[in-house]
Amino acid sequence: MVPRGCRIRPLASGICCPMSRIAYVNGRYVLFRNAKVHVEDRGYQFADAVYEVCEVRGGRLVDERRHLDRLERSLGALRIRMPMTRQALGVVLREVVARNRISSGMVYLQIGRGVARRDPAFPGSGVAPSVVVTARSLNAARTDALAATGIAVVSVPDNRWGRVDIKTVGLLPNVLARQTAIDQGAREAWFVDKAGLVTEGASVNAWIVTRDGKLVTRHADHAILGGITRTVVLDAVKDRGLSLEERPFSLDEAYKAHEAFVTSATQIVMPVVRIDGRVIGDGKPGLVATALRLHYHRYAEAG
Ligand code: PDD
Repeated sequence: MVPRGCRIRPLASGICCPMSRIAYVNGRYVLFRNAKVHVEDRGYQFADAVYEVCEVRGGRLVDERRHLDRLERSLGALRIRMPMTRQALGVVLREVVARNRISSGMVYLQIGRGVARRDPAFPGSGVAPSVVVTARSLNAARTDALAATGIAVVSVPDNRWGRVDIKTVGLLPNVLARQTAIDQGAREAWFVDKAGLVTEGASVNAWIVTRDGKLVTRHADHAILGGITRTVVLDAVKDRGLSLEERPFSLDEAYKAHEAFVTSATQIVMPVVRIDGRVIGDGKPGLVATALRLHYHRYAEAG
């Protein structure tokens, strides 16, 4: 039954459904406002869960295969079992996108170790993993406008655990770093390790272009999340014959860089024009970052 007052539009499949937001929670599609998890969900109590954020473009998932590869890797590292096949997970992701009529936006997937009496040790094998999927629209025009001016970042000490290559929901240092950036009138924070080297941003990978035109981004070890956008940009950089070094760079090197930018599934390639209040290059989005942003989707896989 469709409640009175709901606007109805047919899905691509021809099925009619209300215009309310929909989430997928543990096997059911539910109204977003009613979407709930148990108080003893281990994701909630221990951050014992992993997640993925995938771009939606033209109603399609971008780089689904790579996101599901990374998801399986994260789950494997934490010994959480895949709750369903990759194909089934793909169907759920697409269904949530369709039910929410997302044309341009993102889909969020979280898989946790499940619900069990509070005890740090793993629960028995009978406990099913928790699965939540939500989707929302993002204002592409607003992100493009931001990219046209570039963003400011601030540096913060990298005080995260040693396995940030696993995409867990344990993001408190990232939350605090991001808020530090906002409090200082910037948009992102870059983590800097004890050796003074930039690892990555609070929710993005970090890049610079040196004065002699080399792109530099930290190699993907345990100190950064191996971003999917980063991987696609690496493909683009190689394909375009640009000069590249995958190595750590210092904050000082970043201050003196010709360009800087960040990458993530929701921001694609976002130019950085200020770091800790210092102007990067000529203070405008650089040519390399702008070109990579423009051509990004040629290199990504459309679903
Ligand atoms: N963030 N580094 C960190 C710490 C991240 O959280 C992210 C992604 C990235 C970029 O990864 P990708 O290119 O696969 O999006 C790097 C997502 C978007 C988020 O938490 O919302």
